[in-house]
Amino acid sequence: MYFSQQIIQWYHKNQRNLPWRETNDPYIIWLSEIILQQTRVNQGTPYFYKFTEHYPNIESFASAPEEEILRHWQGLGYYSRARNMLKTAKLIMQEYAGIFPSNYDKLIELPGIGEYTASAIASFSINESKAVVDGNVSRVLARYFGIDEPINSSKGKQQFNRLAQEVLDRKNPGIHNQAMMEFGALQCKPQSPDCDSCPLQQTCFAYQNNLVNKLPVKIKA
Ligand code: ADE
Ligand code: SF4
Repeated sequence: MYFSQQIIQWYHKNQRNLPWRETNDPYIIWLSEIILQQTRVNQGTPYFYKFTEHYPNIESFASAPEEEILRHWQGLGYYSRARNMLKTAKLIMQEYAGIFPSNYDKLIELPGIGEYTASAIASFSINESKAVVDGNVSRVLARYFGIDEPINSSKGKQQFNRLAQEVLDRKNPGIHNQAMMEFGALQCKPQSPDCDSCPLQQTCFAYQNNLVNKLPVKIKA
């Protein structure tokens, strides 16, 4: 599909080298995605190195004292994330014989793993065809396809999930997902997106209809 091809081509030219993109290990991807959930890439990266160094695998994480994990987490905030990770790690040791699940249906059953994280781990580790949908992805879709349903209403979420899945490159779901997130973070940014240098400009609904600053629509929580 044209859209996905363009996004992936853009990604190959513009991607940042981020350390969690160099692995297929679902445990390492899980670490990175939980760290990045409410944290910017620049702030999260040193923590990613620290955690993978201290806890290179699920066994080492699961057997670490909670105080130690919380100490390493210091500065990231939302400490429940770290506590839930430890619970999940212990559960994986006990119920999955220490083998971190990599397929979506298993992942989604784990505590602290929602649709976003399950899709990220499954697509990055085993290339399962599950589209990730976060704020970056919804914004890109809303602008490019001209969708004015609020990205945070339940109807909107359904619509964006459906569209994200429809445009997903089924041959390269992992790369496609990374590319969508990166495109949203670097090119189609929330404020002043770089439309002048955007390879999708000619076919972008928002750009062509002067709606870039009107999309995405968000309702007050
Ligand atoms: N934010 C959350 N997940 C990310 C990823 N895999 N790459 C870049 N930024 C992210
Ligand atoms: Fe986003 Fe602008 Fe590119 Fe459209 S033209 S996809 S609004 S950066």
